[in-house]
Amino acid sequence: MRSLIDILDLSVDEIASLIRTADDIIANPAKYAEKCRGKKLATLFFEPSTRTRLSFEAAMYELGGHVIGFSEAMSSSAAKGESIADTVRTVSCYADIIAMRHPKEGAPLVASRKSWVPVINAGDGGHNHPTQTLADLLTIHREKGRFSGLTVGLCGDLKFGRTVHSLISALSRYEDVRFVLISPDELVLPDYIKTDVLQRGGFSFYETTDLEAAMPELDILYMTRVQRERFFNEADYIRLKDSYILTPEKLVNAKQDLAIMHPLPRVGEITGAVDDDPRACYFKQVLYGKYMRMALILMLLEVA
Ligand code: NCD
Repeated sequence: MRSLIDILDLSVDEIASLIRTADDIIANPAKYAEKCRGKKLATLFFEPSTRTRLSFEAAMYELGGHVIGFSEAMSSSAAKGESIADTVRTVSCYADIIAMRHPKEGAPLVASRKSWVPVINAGDGGHNHPTQTLADLLTIHREKGRFSGLTVGLCGDLKFGRTVHSLISALSRYEDVRFVLISPDELVLPDYIKTDVLQRGGFSFYETTDLEAAMPELDILYMTRVQRERFFNEADYIRLKDSYILTPEKLVNAKQDLAIMHPLPRVGEITGAVDDDPRACYFKQVLYGKYMRMALILMLLEVA
């Protein structure tokens, strides 16, 4: 039995295989409509979510399966003080697979050690978000046809943005990827990722506060929201929240085939006027997330 806690739990070959399956689901959805007949997915969300939870649910329904779960900690026995271990053992009596989001870093890992069924990390605090990365990888693959040789700009809250952390890990296994880390000084990428992943892997990267200066060299621009819920101090959030606002004017010197991505939700980092730009990919990313979650469920449930 396998869980997905960190994107590196999947080999490069397995990522390629998930992309192939997702592409096939997109081309032949009817072929997959009964694959999970009789199976149940449990969504245990101790933190807010729109896309991740609903795309997991839609994914399971489109595979012919069923969904149970809760969408806020206060409606579960966590509110009475139940441990993650006991909650997950209980849920593994009812469901075949679990998707869990939790504000504490490492909670889904703990859950996976106690569970009798596969556990998928649907976001743990400011740490990781591997299934968003699967959505991001399918988007990049469909837009660019490759991962190697790309210059990827990551912009916004690189400190607390878990989607950024998982995406950098995932891309660190491909050749000749360059990273441009664009953030305010207070929201730079954590040192452990800089040293353990980027420096150790010999990647070319630099940090800057200047989005417009970096723009012309980027193949991918991955915008992120400042993660209000991870701040200790509301005044710091208010000071930093509008650090980067992408407008059509700021894209004037961007490549014609730039892919503009964002895991969403956006709260002002990309103005609505950018949505009409053919380079805007963030709603495709939403859709692709559902297909990659379908592919992942099939893989973890070992459904052929
Ligand atoms: C992201 C998350 O939850 O980390 N959202 C998502 O799952 N698409 C990004 C965010 O909340 O800013």
